[in-house]
Amino acid sequence: MAGPELVRELTLREKASLTSGETAWTTKSVREIGSVVVSDGPHGLRRPAEGADEFGLSGSLPATCFPPAVALGSSWDVDLVRRVGRALGVEARAAGVGVVLGPGINLKRSPLCGRNFEYFSEDPLITGVLGSAMVAGIQSQGVGASLKHFAANNAEHDRFRSSSEIDPRTLRELYLRAFHRIVTEQQPWTVMAAYNKINGVYATEHPWLLTALLRGEWGFTGLVVSDWGAVDDPVSAIGAGLDLIMPSTGGRSDAVIIDAVERGALAEAAVDRAAGRVAELAERVKAGAAGQAPHFDRNRHHTLAREAAGKSIVLLRNVDDILPLDPAGSESIAVIGELAREPRYQGAGSSMINPTRLDRALGEIVGYAGQDRVSFAPGYRIGPGTDGDLVSLRDEATALAEQSDVVIIFLGLPAEEESEGFDRQHLELPADQTTLLDAVLAVNSRVIVVLSNGGVVRVSGWQHLVPGLIEGWLLGQAGGAALADVLFGAVNPSGRLAETIPFKLSDTPAYLDFPGQFGKINYSEGIFVGYRYFDARDLPVSFPFGHGLSYTTFEYSGASAQQNGDGLRLRVRITNTGQRSGREVVQVYAGLPGSRVSRPPRQLIGFTIVELAAGESRQVELIIPRSELAYYHPIQSRWLVEGGRYRIEVGSSSRDIRGMIMVEVSGEEEVNRLTPSSSLAEVMAVPAARAALQKLLAHHPLAAMIEDPATLAMIGSMPIRRLASFPGAEISDGQLTDLLSRLPGRS
Ligand code: BGC
Repeated sequence: MAGPELVRELTLREKASLTSGETAWTTKSVREIGSVVVSDGPHGLRRPAEGADEFGLSGSLPATCFPPAVALGSSWDVDLVRRVGRALGVEARAAGVGVVLGPGINLKRSPLCGRNFEYFSEDPLITGVLGSAMVAGIQSQGVGASLKHFAANNAEHDRFRSSSEIDPRTLRELYLRAFHRIVTEQQPWTVMAAYNKINGVYATEHPWLLTALLRGEWGFTGLVVSDWGAVDDPVSAIGAGLDLIMPSTGGRSDAVIIDAVERGALAEAAVDRAAGRVAELAERVKAGAAGQAPHFDRNRHHTLAREAAGKSIVLLRNVDDILPLDPAGSESIAVIGELAREPRYQGAGSSMINPTRLDRALGEIVGYAGQDRVSFAPGYRIGPGTDGDLVSLRDEATALAEQSDVVIIFLGLPAEEESEGFDRQHLELPADQTTLLDAVLAVNSRVIVVLSNGGVVRVSGWQHLVPGLIEGWLLGQAGGAALADVLFGAVNPSGRLAETIPFKLSDTPAYLDFPGQFGKINYSEGIFVGYRYFDARDLPVSFPFGHGLSYTTFEYSGASAQQNGDGLRLRVRITNTGQRSGREVVQVYAGLPGSRVSRPPRQLIGFTIVELAAGESRQVELIIPRSELAYYHPIQSRWLVEGGRYRIEVGSSSRDIRGMIMVEVSGEEEVNRLTPSSSLAEVMAVPAARAALQKLLAHHPLAAMIEDPATLAMIGSMPIRRLASFPGAEISDGQLTDLLSRLPGRS
């Protein structure tokens, strides 16, 4: 039954009551409409334990902690993310949960955003493709996803009130793009409206966002739920297209809604719609939960978490093949850093879950190399420690490094530095850790650094001094084992940066406008976010977007690209030229030199993973939809492909381009009709218009003047109407309109 039918028999009071939660995690049950249980979160289920506080922040039932999005984003692996989504769906079903509150797909505008660990990338294509896979996986189990946070929620500072001020082109091309893809590809059961305002209007009360765009343009058929506590005015929210206010408001919002309908301030049809969608969701959840719940096998999910972590680790540097280490070798290994023993594997806030178990890198390294070869020193404390204590910890670690053949040092951000709810202030690692690194490097040059961090950290002070550098992000509960798999070569690393590691904070695109002021965040860098900005400014970076090394090498050859029906067909041969099998992430970028609109030098338009045995070679083909080349025209309010010779690049990172092809692409030119407000230069650029204007000017001196290039350069921007009223010319608006309307348009 459709929503309106389900609620036809209900009273206004009953319908209004459906529009808000029963508790923190359930919707209301009214007559035969059942209650829906929802639960965080993006990388594991956070279902509050019996007797825990209502919000579950003090403890939740054990669930598999998969790698958070910051790590999964670096896998670039659609199939993997789909399988993780499916496992989340299985765990949700097993726990009686109907909707999983994720994935989070906001873009990483600034590396300082405190919640970047919950998001995939600085690029909307990766975010959209991986987010889509995650939703497909979750929903394949008869459980709904909740796409969040819609939209432009890219900072935590003042998140309940601040307004993201964004121009329409930037909004469409960057901040809405992934939402659009996932909504149209997957029809997530729910979309979560964000806390913030967009151009002055709360996302939860935004009629254009929630209704005109989401339903009208994109055809969304699911339910819009508010983020927890995101509704300021329930009447505006329901009127704008929000369906469900969460968590429970204790009935207060229901009463306000009833009153507004009775006063005529809110159409009852809006309440019918919202209640109908809640009823529809309840039906879907009931149907999804029918039959036997799938079996949730903790061991199998842990194995998947380990595979996912292994595929998300990014090998940033590997000078003289210091890695992988030989598990059967004899060299002594110093493991330094408390994080090897006490891993940081997820971020804080609503996504923090209670893992079913936890692998620790130290134990896993011992597992590979044997107790005799491995020694450990914590080197620093996580959390507060006295200065004296720190000095002795450092001395102990340095002495160990000096006696050992190779050092693996674990560095990373403390938990209290990154969390939902606030942003970071800087990109620095704790000073006690970098001081320790300096001390270790002074006594041993064979150093491998392993990083644990949810947001990028600055490595530019020392990256050139360490032969081995691994970006370990936050890897979930099996991260410790996955790191050991990579260190000892059981897994050949294939992760790629889904965000740039900048040289320094002041280089980053949003530096001057983060986190905003006076309640506004001006997205003044526009479309130039992440590598789009670093490339446009030609700035050096520590490690570019798309970068990641392997223990083998890949050669690219014979790249070709053609326009193919409704898109581009790109082919390239990839050969594994090294000694072991490996996975290469083939990346395709496009640029349009001389474009009429501002564009980054390159933007990602496609990617694929190819897995090759040593010596194996394969032709890879990518079909890239034409829409990947489009830009959003803010005046015509539509997507448009500009005609021209596009530079298509294929490579191993955004700054390691291995093949370049120029491809002529036909455009959908914007046809702007000439009007009396068109400039003189615009009129002169159209031969027929130019001739007609000359005819009208007849023997007036202006006729000759406008043919002189120097004069045209000076007065070319003058609207033709004003020129036509100059003394002696005196051409009327009517004459101009009549003349121009008979001419072809200008492109
Ligand atoms: C977060 C959401 C989360 C919700 C429920 C909010 O604070 O922004 O991502 O799903 O809480 O825990």
